[in-house]
Amino acid sequence: MSTETTTSAPLATIASLSAHEGQTITLRGWLYNLRASGKLLFPIFRDGTGTIQGIVPKAAVSEEVFETLKNLTLESSLTVTGKVRADSRAPSGFELDVESIEVLQRVPEDTPFPISLKEHGVDFLMEHRHLWLRTPRQSAILRVRATIMRAASEYFDTNGFIRTDPPILTPNACEGTSELFEMDYFDDDKAYLTQSGQLYIEATALALGKVYSFGPTFRAEKSKTRRHLTEFWMIEPEVAFLELDGLLNLAEAFITHIVTRVLESHRADLKVIGKDIAKLEAVITPDGFPRLSYDEAHAMLEKAFAEGKLEAPHKCGDDFGSPDETYISSQFDKPVMIHRYPAAFKAFYMQPDPLDPTKALCVDVLAPEGYGEIIGGSQRIHDYDLLKSRIEQHDLPLAAFQWYLDLRKYGSVPHAGFGMGIERAVAWICGLDHVRETIPFARTLNRIYP
Ligand code: 4AD
Ligand code: MG
Repeated sequence: MSTETTTSAPLATIASLSAHEGQTITLRGWLYNLRASGKLLFPIFRDGTGTIQGIVPKAAVSEEVFETLKNLTLESSLTVTGKVRADSRAPSGFELDVESIEVLQRVPEDTPFPISLKEHGVDFLMEHRHLWLRTPRQSAILRVRATIMRAASEYFDTNGFIRTDPPILTPNACEGTSELFEMDYFDDDKAYLTQSGQLYIEATALALGKVYSFGPTFRAEKSKTRRHLTEFWMIEPEVAFLELDGLLNLAEAFITHIVTRVLESHRADLKVIGKDIAKLEAVITPDGFPRLSYDEAHAMLEKAFAEGKLEAPHKCGDDFGSPDETYISSQFDKPVMIHRYPAAFKAFYMQPDPLDPTKALCVDVLAPEGYGEIIGGSQRIHDYDLLKSRIEQHDLPLAAFQWYLDLRKYGSVPHAGFGMGIERAVAWICGLDHVRETIPFARTLNRIYP
């Protein structure tokens, strides 16, 4: 098999056809769909950058080209040469008047491509994820994901942050010990897959000032929800001398930048995915994100329950449940930033609020449309003795945290940071029902294949 073409036409991609209007070009790709109507064939080709419909009148091509295409099986790989014609009704804006075709690998008739245009159950699709990725909607989601990841790094890279990569194998927990993946680490040692790079980037922040990390993180989540993966990508900034208010400003500017970049280059993809673009445009208007304290959010839920808008009451002092978060976020067009949660159910490292030490100087950012938490962050405890007592109260092994305590011994300063799960952000920005479609190969409680 060779990818050399025998035509002399220039190679092009579907995404760049506007530069080739009226020209004869060659595309390399796959047969996505085929419709025949008498002496006319309407193949749809895809090449990874998009799809384009071809037009093949029997009279316009050789007998061989017509018969080859007419009998071609879906997802066969090919090169196709034809003339690019503008057509305002076509999704890509163009159609291809096919002149010739070369098949690279023909999918055998007796093992047809398993994913057809009809509806499949989600278990079937996940079992065939390696092939499902080829369909236009899934490809569009992955393109948007790539832009979200690029825009997220770009925001920090262009605002004076240094990327510092924390280890993935760690000797201790960061976010609670119940969700740790444990493994043997030589001899008698144990290691854990990281749940968050935070503790390590606190060290790099005190070395470099403004830092971020971006990598895979792991949680042995036993929950089967639309929001939980066992392996996901987190981007985390950490900043020396930053306090809670500054952290809220950072989160707001960061999310605004990402949504702006997605709107700049993915309107067509968002349409394929079925996202209401107006909902994203509302996010980036200049009038900041709403900010509510935990107590204010609780009061809002109490009122909603009294008015019959919520089925169950929210108990003050408890974390918000999914219906609570959905209700709060549905009151706003923009992400809502909820700050100062009760310290009792938050992480050990969070700085208490000096005005009410039962509250933590932390923030959760809830995405609109009921998507729930996309960002969690806080100001960190900077006092040595307080942090040590929190580690003890949480029954964490002091020895494993000695290096972390050192950061409070040698020139401690107030500092703060947050983490955003990329998959949660993609689910919200694309308007997806479940995080399993936001990553090429999702890892969940009950799936690790393919
Ligand atoms: O709120 P979390 O647990 O916060 C931390 O890990 C902090 N150490 C971050 C920091 O301050 N540097 O997780 C942060 C974000 C969540 O808001 C969510 O977007 C995502 O990570 N996340 C998950 N995404 C998918 N599946 C899971 N199981 C997730 N758990 C957290
Ligand atoms: Mg959280």
